[in-house]
Amino acid sequence: MKVFISYRFPEAALARIKEKFDVSVNQEERLLSKEELSARVAAVDALVCLGNRVDRDVIDAGKKLKIVANYGVGYNNIDAEYAAKKQVMVTNTPGVLTETTADLTWTILMSIARRIVEADRFTRSGNFNKFDPYRLLGTDVYGKTLGIVGLGRIGQAVAKRSLGFDMKVLYFAVRQKDQETEQRYGATYVDLDTLLRESDFVTLHVPLMDSTHHLIDKDKLALMKPTAFLVNASRGAVIDEQALVEVLKERKIAGAALDVYEKEPQLSPGLSELNNVVLIPHLGSATQQTRNAMAEIVADNVIAALQGEPPPNLVN
Ligand code: GLV
Repeated sequence: MKVFISYRFPEAALARIKEKFDVSVNQEERLLSKEELSARVAAVDALVCLGNRVDRDVIDAGKKLKIVANYGVGYNNIDAEYAAKKQVMVTNTPGVLTETTADLTWTILMSIARRIVEADRFTRSGNFNKFDPYRLLGTDVYGKTLGIVGLGRIGQAVAKRSLGFDMKVLYFAVRQKDQETEQRYGATYVDLDTLLRESDFVTLHVPLMDSTHHLIDKDKLALMKPTAFLVNASRGAVIDEQALVEVLKERKIAGAALDVYEKEPQLSPGLSELNNVVLIPHLGSATQQTRNAMAEIVADNVIAALQGEPPPNLVN
């Protein structure tokens, strides 16, 4: 059976797939266009994809396709519902990237609060000629209110880290969590508007779906305190990015730290000119260990599916 992998892939996991199947890997360091991807899936049994849009046309092009194995946890790039109709399994890589993504969330949260990127630029540019007690003053994190939107695996891992900062934790989720989970993180369930009104830091950890598209829009942004920060390491389109640019420009909120963008890899006009933002290029799960662990999960899913067993991380 044949497997196509749409981007360079970690060696150990690749070797495991190659042991059993005929594997080809896109050697170019770029995302293939839809047409190119459709051509490459035409004769394969499994597609391993990384950030590619796998829509109806691509799924239809894969005449023998049995599985689309996403090399990532968020699978909004794949039309999983249509795939199910076509008897094509879709899998993802949950679990192994939870802690890494929570670490990254805290990295960018702290970076915007303490102006680390600006400070780095300042130091490199040779401006550090004396200690100045009023230079680059930031905002305390310790003891503040953290609002977590989506208390799933990653949201909870973010909450766990907030305990060390003695923060008040508010959360909003589709369903209220059980008491034990709430107590573990000292987290209080509130509606989204209350969370936005009361939090000093708002961090988003929901998957991108129809119901979460532009969840944070102009009206929701207007509820945030002028001193509050917005952090997003989930999916860009959870925020109306152009509306965010406007409130940041007008200093209606203090700042934002973003790992993901609505029209990734493009940034909304004006975003990169602001200095009250930290912008990084989708690095949530980007550590060597986690990439390897994600690749092993992809291999488990592909091998199981092509051997006629249920893949461990079926999502459709
Ligand atoms: C990365 O963004 C992922 O969904 O794994």
